[in-house]
Amino acid sequence: PIAHFNGAFVPLDEIRISPLDRGFIFGDGVYEVVPVYNGEPLHGREHFERLQRSCDEIRLKNPHTVDEWMALTRKLLESHPGNQSVYVHVTRGVPSKRDHVIPTGLKPTVFMMCYPLASPSKEQIENGVACTTAEDFRWTKCHIKSISLLGNVLARQSSVDAGAVETIMFRNGFLTEASASNAFVVKGGTVLAAPQDNMILLGITYQLLEKLAKDGTLKLEVRPVSEAEVRGADEIWLSSSTKEVLAVTSLDGKPVGTGKPGPVFKRMHALYQEYKG
Ligand code: PDD
Repeated sequence: PIAHFNGAFVPLDEIRISPLDRGFIFGDGVYEVVPVYNGEPLHGREHFERLQRSCDEIRLKNPHTVDEWMALTRKLLESHPGNQSVYVHVTRGVPSKRDHVIPTGLKPTVFMMCYPLASPSKEQIENGVACTTAEDFRWTKCHIKSISLLGNVLARQSSVDAGAVETIMFRNGFLTEASASNAFVVKGGTVLAAPQDNMILLGITYQLLEKLAKDGTLKLEVRPVSEAEVRGADEIWLSSSTKEVLAVTSLDGKPVGTGKPGPVFKRMHALYQEYKG
């Protein structure tokens, strides 16, 4: 498959990265994943605006404007029809030696690739998925979409080891998010979402669910959600660009609510499907 590397469109397996690249040495970079339906990026601009905020947070000069990123995305999609995930990766570049201090004048490394969008299966939509829980042991700048994903990787693996798909995390007794998605809780018909602070990545999908709830007159509250509220929830959902919105029907081996995707989930799922067209 064709990928993008530092200004050129080239076969993915021909791309070579220096071992001194700060992305390789320090995990010093940021990324985005943009879902594409039938060749059309969903919320592409919002993803690239978030990439800009991630760059600003790590003091990396974004090599492209939102318009340029969109143009690169469309060019890449010319050879990748249908439903895709566009992966976008920017590192601080390749210095001449390993040194933590941020060098001046480095040219960022830019990498983009596509792979088929792995949307939830019919079975997952109808029956929901299993999750486990864990203490959120990541750093406190989770609002940056950093390529340093070791915390997320270890958290995610613990659920997979237990036969589940995602790990829902708590920090000091409160819900943050899941290892590669945001998490929502429904109690008494109200959707609860964790605060939009530095402890979570504010998902583009999270923000879409907020908008869909508002337009669809579902009650959604953004506020700290306790671990007890999660464990006693009527419904739990995950959201991300690839998962869309997905019901969690088992948590740590115990059924969530009735153990089936709930009515509020079904309404939100329908709103989402209608929205994406
Ligand atoms: N992950 N929280 C975390 C930790 C994430 O990694 C993601 C997305 C989200 C949801 O963000 P969005 O709705 O903008 O996709 C929340 C992507 C899909 C990934 O790393 O593959």
